[in-house]
Amino acid sequence: MHLAHSLWTVAALCVAVHGGLTNFTLDDASPVISYTPAPLQQCTPEVCPEPAVPPYNGTSSTVVVGHISIPFVGSAVYVYLSVQGSCSFNLDDQVVGNASNLEFISLAFSNDSLPDSPHVLMIYPGLWGSLIELDYVVFSHNVRTSRGAIIGGVVGGIAAATVLSIGGFLLRRRQKRKQLSTRGVPLGDHWPDKPSIQLAEMGKREQK
Ligand SMILES: *[C@@H]1O[C@H](CO)[C@@H](O)[C@H](O)[C@H]1NC(C)=O
Ligand SMILES: *[C@@H]1O[C@H](CO)[C@@H](O)[C@H](O)[C@H]1NC(C)=O
Ligand SMILES: *[C@@H]1O[C@H](CO)[C@@H](O)[C@H](O)[C@H]1NC(C)=O
Ligand SMILES: *[C@@H]1O[C@H](CO)[C@@H](O)[C@H](O)[C@H]1NC(C)=O
Repeated sequence: MHLAHSLWTVAALCVAVHGGLTNFTLDDASPVISYTPAPLQQCTPEVCPEPAVPPYNGTSSTVVVGHISIPFVGSAVYVYLSVQGSCSFNLDDQVVGNASNLEFISLAFSNDSLPDSPHVLMIYPGLWGSLIELDYVVFSHNVRTSRGAIIGGVVGGIAAATVLSIGGFLLRRRQKRKQLSTRGVPLGDHWPDKPSIQLAEMGKREQK
């Protein structure tokens, strides 16, 4: 019965996951994002106590030279940062956008019409003296494998759960039968000759 239950859960999960395009958020502190060189400063609530806009998950990374490299698999990408001066966005080795003078962390670059495949986004500071404060990056990836595979999986799961339930039922019935045949007639607690019952009855009679 446990296994049948698990299969039902898996089937339910398959239906839940079948949401199509799903957003994933990468915090600036995510190990997926690499900084070359290391950020000038990593803001945490302790280091930067009162930011104008509280950063996602409490952190942001400040970069003045080099580049930030963000690999992802998906069909859309959204970059949230603030910048003094300017910065450039390079997607799969092509400059695809610029941003300049964003005082507060906001959407600085996005593209939602990419092929749903692996990409590498690079962000680098523009003119000398530019400063990027990266907060987070969102990418969308279609987690649906194929409708047929999921329906197949769900139907298969339900069929397996049903077979297992019936199997469990038959097995229990057989075990019950076996108990009956080895012990002969099934005896409950209510056989009148049971010594303890007789004693109790005698006790009651004596009390009267
Ligand atoms: C993903 O996030 C972006 C912005 O953060 C939003 O515009 C978009 O609608 C979201 N997509 C999905 C599928 O939730
Ligand atoms: C948020 O920050 C905490 C540490 O402060 C970390 O353990 C956690 O993984 C972070 N969550 C995300 C989604 O980055
Ligand atoms: C970004 O700015 C650079 C330098 O200012 C320029 O050469 C490039 O064409 C710009 N790219 C886009 C996509 O705006
Ligand atoms: C997004 O990227 C695709 C593929 O690189 C490109 O064809 C498209 O013009 C871009 N869209 C925007 C809004 O920049």
